[in-house]
Amino acid sequence: METIIKKVDPNAINEETIWQAGEILKQGGLVAFPTETVYGLGANALDEEAAKKTYEAKGRPSDNPLIVHIAQLQALNEIANGIPVETMRLAHRFWPGPLTMIFKKKEKVPYGTTGGLDTVAVRMPSHKIALALIEAAGGYVSAPSANTSGRPSPTEASHVAQDLNGKIDMILDGGNVEIGVESTILDMTVTPPMILRPGAVTREMLEDVLGEVAVDKTLLSDTDRQAPKAPGMKYRHYAPKAQLMIVEGEVAEAVKAIKQIAYEQTRLGYSVGIIATSETMKQYTVGSIKSIGTRENEASVARNLYRILREFDEEEVQYIYSEAFAVEGIGTAVMNRLMKAAGHHTLQADSITRLQKYRRVVFVSESDNCRGPMAALLFRKQPLLQEYVVMSRGLVVLFPEPVNQKAEAIVKSKQLTMAAYQTTGLAAEDITDDTLVLTMEERQKQKVREAFPQAEHVFTLPEFVEDGEEVPSPYGEPLVRYGETYELLEKLVKKLAEKLNEEARKL
Ligand code: TXA
Ligand code: MG
Repeated sequence: METIIKKVDPNAINEETIWQAGEILKQGGLVAFPTETVYGLGANALDEEAAKKTYEAKGRPSDNPLIVHIAQLQALNEIANGIPVETMRLAHRFWPGPLTMIFKKKEKVPYGTTGGLDTVAVRMPSHKIALALIEAAGGYVSAPSANTSGRPSPTEASHVAQDLNGKIDMILDGGNVEIGVESTILDMTVTPPMILRPGAVTREMLEDVLGEVAVDKTLLSDTDRQAPKAPGMKYRHYAPKAQLMIVEGEVAEAVKAIKQIAYEQTRLGYSVGIIATSETMKQYTVGSIKSIGTRENEASVARNLYRILREFDEEEVQYIYSEAFAVEGIGTAVMNRLMKAAGHHTLQADSITRLQKYRRVVFVSESDNCRGPMAALLFRKQPLLQEYVVMSRGLVVLFPEPVNQKAEAIVKSKQLTMAAYQTTGLAAEDITDDTLVLTMEERQKQKVREAFPQAEHVFTLPEFVEDGEEVPSPYGEPLVRYGETYELLEKLVKKLAEKLNEEARKL
């Protein structure tokens, strides 16, 4: 089947295109169209055969009921029975818009559309193209999200084409959607009404109208073994091809944990995607890093979520790590979709970061003008699983001065520099409980222990990596000896990184 793709400007709707699309629907065909939430795959909701085609095109189980989209309030009375009185207050406030309500169905609605249920889900979308199309099609358009079942919902026409090109009659391209996550579903057949799927119309907004609102307990946790009340919510929806993991906890900790895991996965040869925010994006170093929006405005996160999951699919990353978002406002919908996409795989950031034994590494030498700063410089260049504050300090530093010129000459020959460094004396505040103090010589180790009895982890660098005893000072010797010191430190620091990475990996 050749899929007709037509651009439609929502602010200057081409009547002829809409008429053509309406005719296709009236004749039992399938037309994808934009709504304010996601793109929908439209069919005539009163036509059992059209519903069958919908399931086929999406590859969706046919027990998963469709939402009937209407454009006029009177249409609701034609398809629903026993409409509770509060409905009008809700419709008045939220329709047209991202709210779907469930009622007892009238006979007119075929079981093919409701997945065999005696209830029907109804929504009046606000998107101008959607409203025009529903009118043109006769008033009742069933529309699931226009994606292949199991893939992220489409938020632009190209996503629909990726999934359904050749399988449906027409795609109306109205540009990017506004909201990005599917409508809130509210079951009006129970008292109090119950949210079966969170969306842009939040619980608080509904409570504002209704007073009390219940929430399907299965929405965010999967500890509850009960099946969700909206049949569609039980499938592993919105699933990216990669394994997605959500890292919960304080943002700063989450960033650290994700960096650490991403580094390790990359080292093992896996490709990694990271869902960051504009606030945290720059802190990541490895992996395919994408900003999903800003934490200041969670609506931006909702808008980009599915597009980003699709982009990772295209890049064929094997693992995706995402920061978590606050479960409030539209964040509730974002986390619901993310959790489902992740198959509820979450990780507590501090379970990774808390276990870090050392957070600071201090290289201690005599006057902090050669071996110490060299070691710190070399250590910072190592690939490290965890983050460390790295510094060098001297035992005898009377006033700050630049590093030894020969030492600088050696590191310069390696395209590095310590030119900006000023020597610094070791002070009590440099040594916290989680500081690893590494001296160059045995004597320095003893001195640190005597002067700073609170220091718990003091070793000579060679001793710590089990390779020799001391790093002798090249002071007063020819340049080649400085070169040898550099080589020795490079070897030891590499071992140090391996040892620390090894310990981190054991966690
Ligand atoms: O924002 C939206 O609602 C989009 C756009 C296109 O309008 N549509 C959408 O449809 O998300 P779909 O088919 O992807 O999701 C419909 C959800 C499913 O989880 C389904 O199980 C639930 O609504 N649903 C539909 N009828 C229901 C009913 N009678 N009782 C309980 N759940 C129902
Ligand atoms: Mg869907």
